[in-house]
Amino acid sequence: MPALVLVGAQWGDEGKGKIAHYLSARAHLVARYQGGNNAGHTVVFGGRTFALHTIPSGILVPRVRCALGNGVVINARALREEVRSLERAGVRVRGRLFISPLCHMVLPYHVLLDSIREEAGGIGTTKKGIGPCYEDKVARLGVRLCDFLDERLFAELAERSLALKSAELAKARRLRSARAQTFAGARALRAFLRPFAADISALIDEALSRGRRVLFEGAQGAMLDVDFGTYPFVTSSSPAAGGACVGAGVGPTRIGSVIAVSKAYTTRVGRGPFPTEMEPAAARRLREAGREYGATTGRPRRIGWLDLVQLRYALRINGAERLAFTKLDTLSGVDPLLVCTAYRVRQRVLREFPCSRRDAQGAEPLYERLPGFAGDISKARRMGELPPNARRYLAFAERRLGAGIAIVSVGPGREQTIARGPLGWTS
Ligand code: IMP
Repeated sequence: MPALVLVGAQWGDEGKGKIAHYLSARAHLVARYQGGNNAGHTVVFGGRTFALHTIPSGILVPRVRCALGNGVVINARALREEVRSLERAGVRVRGRLFISPLCHMVLPYHVLLDSIREEAGGIGTTKKGIGPCYEDKVARLGVRLCDFLDERLFAELAERSLALKSAELAKARRLRSARAQTFAGARALRAFLRPFAADISALIDEALSRGRRVLFEGAQGAMLDVDFGTYPFVTSSSPAAGGACVGAGVGPTRIGSVIAVSKAYTTRVGRGPFPTEMEPAAARRLREAGREYGATTGRPRRIGWLDLVQLRYALRINGAERLAFTKLDTLSGVDPLLVCTAYRVRQRVLREFPCSRRDAQGAEPLYERLPGFAGDISKARRMGELPPNARRYLAFAERRLGAGIAIVSVGPGREQTIARGPLGWTS
């Protein structure tokens, strides 16, 4: 049974947590392949709201096993807190969560460096130490989970890394606290993490070979991808679907289909180009209606109209054949609905997302106006129960994107979902 990859098609926060949870009901194994606790997946389930950061949303479905592939970066303290909070809510995690020993560890000096750089004027990161951790990984200075579990090796590697960062940390008067925090409680963290370590590539291979359903749950989104996103205003990993192969140890021949998740409009947090960003009053209205505040940092999200240039690009780099559209209910009462179908860049009409940061920043969106819809649509469970103008809006996007919208979400609850046709193994 080939694997299914679920990816964010915009700048993150598309509602992947809800869709991943919805799809997890039919999965055996749910794996993450990149990012760390910079992610914030909000899942509303059984009358409760869960905010997941590192653990896949599949953990909320009792018989599903969850994995963190080698491409994920682990903040041990944050992960321990997440496990404890799930256990307090009655969710069993031990024996169901497995972590690759090849995962790199986000250490306290990474978090401090991220903050120091942001304070000096960065790109608007989550300050979780994600960039500095991936930097160490590619610079071959990183500490993997298997290294962290070896007390002597960890001390050696951490000291070497700290020495190389000492000038930057000392300048900000954080060197002493960086060292202290790095070693504080490390023994207890090792004891906590050891039982979770497992060969994730082998686990996934075995599941796929036995015909089990495997779901890859992407974090962040295509436009935050370090290669394909709005560089340098991106995260430091590869959220695009191809990242699942290198971030979990799975060959491309094992991936069967890709579903891209998009909001019915667009949001982004942090700095960087955002061609369809709305003017403040309209943005404020949608921000309140859609509770558009970052799940990890609480920052207000920037709000924009649906951008089909950007989405077409995202579908291409992910090889996604189908979309899940979320938060359609939030658009109720907005009239007209603007949809960007092209950009004007330096007097030229562009239908492809520009790679130049100057062009992306200066892109003027060209809109088509569609009539809005009104009323409470959160109880719709079939397409026929949506107002005609809501259906027209979806059909317009499908036609212009050349891709089907297979799932429409009309509220945070799992049941507030309209499923339309086959989705890889979910059919
Ligand atoms: P970092 O991943 O913390 O280094 O942040 C880099 C950029 O990615 C910033 O613009 C963040 O706001 C953004 N980002 C990181 N994680 C998420 C997420 O889960 N949702 C939305 N944006 C994110």
